Amino acid sequence: MDNELTIEGVEFMGNNVRNKLKYCGEGVKINALAKIAKPEVVELADNCRLGDFSFIFGGKGVKIGKHTDFQPHTRIWGGGTCIIGDRVSTGPGTTFLTATYSHEGGKIMVDGMEEGEAEEQGGLCEIGHDVYIGANSVIMPVKVGEGAVIAACSFVTHNLKPWGIYAGNPAKRVGWREKPSDEKLKEIDSRK
Ligand SMILES: CC(C)(COP(=O)(O)OP(=O)(O)OC[C@H]1O[C@@H](n2cnc3c(N)ncnc32)[C@H](O)[C@@H]1OP(=O)(O)O)[C@@H](O)C(=O)NCCC(=O)NCCS
Repeated sequence: MDNELTIEGVEFMGNNVRNKLKYCGEGVKINALAKIAKPEVVELADNCRLGDFSFIFGGKGVKIGKHTDFQPHTRIWGGGTCIIGDRVSTGPGTTFLTATYSHEGGKIMVDGMEEGEAEEQGGLCEIGHDVYIGANSVIMPVKVGEGAVIAACSFVTHNLKPWGIYAGNPAKRVGWREKPSDEKLKEIDSRK
């Protein structure tokens, strides 16, 4: 039909993208308006959930752990790698940045330049198990230790210690979090 409405790219959204992923576990929920670019390098473990308007760019590879929950508008962006553990919760608007550009030697800091004009520095954004991230936080290519809490609207520029509570720009430690029991974590892992 001539006037039929078509939207390009819907094959990368919601359940349409499932069979294009490198790996998709059991019980994975991909909301209808979540989108994944370069799904062939993206692995989603059992029971994780991508809320609406989550946007993942696969870069050099993305792994999302079991029972991890992306609330709406969570983004993974950049040409690097992003590895997210099990039972991680991202508040709405969380952004994981996996790369940056070099500004040395008068380099152009724009994507799509000719060879040698720009230098993207791909990194690794590594988020441990049981990390909790508040709304609108931005995380640079760093390592966030397991169980860390990142308060809403924080900007994370350095590695974070396990079970620390961090807030602000740049994020600084404001406390420690009590670790849930190993039995509880195992029990959650065993849920279907
Ligand atoms: C971090 C958080 C979990 C509270 O943890 P907490 O251990 O109870 O921390 P407290 O409230 O005792 O605050 C500790 C300090 O950090 C500060 N702080 C807390 N949250 C902050 C934030 N987002 N940005 C800056 N500072 C913050 C507090 O003002 C306090 O500072 P002070 O000691 O100088 O007064 C909570 O503030 C938060 O950000 N939750 C995320 C909410 C959210 O994004 N929800 C998404 C939908 S579910």
